[in-house]
Amino acid sequence: MDFSIDLKGKTALVTGSSRGIGRATGLLLASLGVRVIFHGTKESPQLLSAVEQAGNKAEKITADFGNMEEVKGFIRELEERNLVPDILILNASVQSYTGLENFSEEEFSRMYRTNVESSFLLIQAFAPYMRKKNWGRIIFVGSINGAKPASRLALYGSTKAALMNVAKTAAMENAPFQITVNTILPGVITTDRNAAVLSDAAFAENLKEKIPMRRFGNAEECAFLISFLASENASYITGAEIPIAGGLQL
Ligand SMILES: NC(=O)c1ccc[n+]([C@@H]2O[C@H](COP(=O)([O-])OP(=O)(O)OC[C@H]3O[C@@H](n4cnc5c(N)ncnc54)[C@H](OP(=O)(O)O)[C@@H]3O)[C@@H](O)[C@H]2O)c1
Repeated sequence: MDFSIDLKGKTALVTGSSRGIGRATGLLLASLGVRVIFHGTKESPQLLSAVEQAGNKAEKITADFGNMEEVKGFIRELEERNLVPDILILNASVQSYTGLENFSEEEFSRMYRTNVESSFLLIQAFAPYMRKKNWGRIIFVGSINGAKPASRLALYGSTKAALMNVAKTAAMENAPFQITVNTILPGVITTDRNAAVLSDAAFAENLKEKIPMRRFGNAEECAFLISFLASENASYITGAEIPIAGGLQL
């Protein structure tokens, strides 16, 4: 038996990889010999530095997933540049503290377009290529809020819950083609996304008290789990939902 992760020769698209969990995942996969396509909403110093740090096989592409025309253009561009992924990591999302009583129509549809509809389009576009190869990995970066409600995150949590259902359908339909589809469920991970709220020391301490392990997670811990799920070693795991939350899901 060999415990090393061999993904050389594979191409991975990591959506939302200019920063945070996506960036750490892209960098780890690149270090394992994967050709990684980094993505952000726009050209930015963060996106450029991720690609530079990853080395010579990395690529970059931009699109705002809140705009379906941009998502379609993004897919076309990947096909034209021969950057069709064997490993699709659906990590990009938008999040706001939007509850049942304070959402606007525009906020509602923007979040569903970005988090849910774009994932449907990316799977629809790239699963057929994986099927032809009889190999593929689709990994959703969900959230414990997809399974565990939080009032201030009602809208965001509902998009993550929708994706958990999509992932299971995709797992079932693609299993005969040796394509695995799994979801990781992060808890509180220190990234740019929550830097502002966690900078309130009293709030952060109070939140840590609710986490059985009494600490926040980091992007690298998520990257290890995602890279394992992408590897050959995880070829019999499909339709799984794996919390990475220090016990906060309990
Ligand atoms: N951090 C946590 O505690 C936590 C907990 C549970 C789940 N998650 C999930 O983990 C994933 C990554 O989170 P993170 O904390 O690493 O996020 P982050 O640091 O905020 O990074 C978000 C990434 O998504 C991209 N993005 C933002 N808006 C987008 C849009 N409209 N269209 C396309 N891409 C967009 C950003 O690109 P730009 O740089 O161009 O803006 C960036 O690359 C998300 O799905 C999130 O829901 C995170």
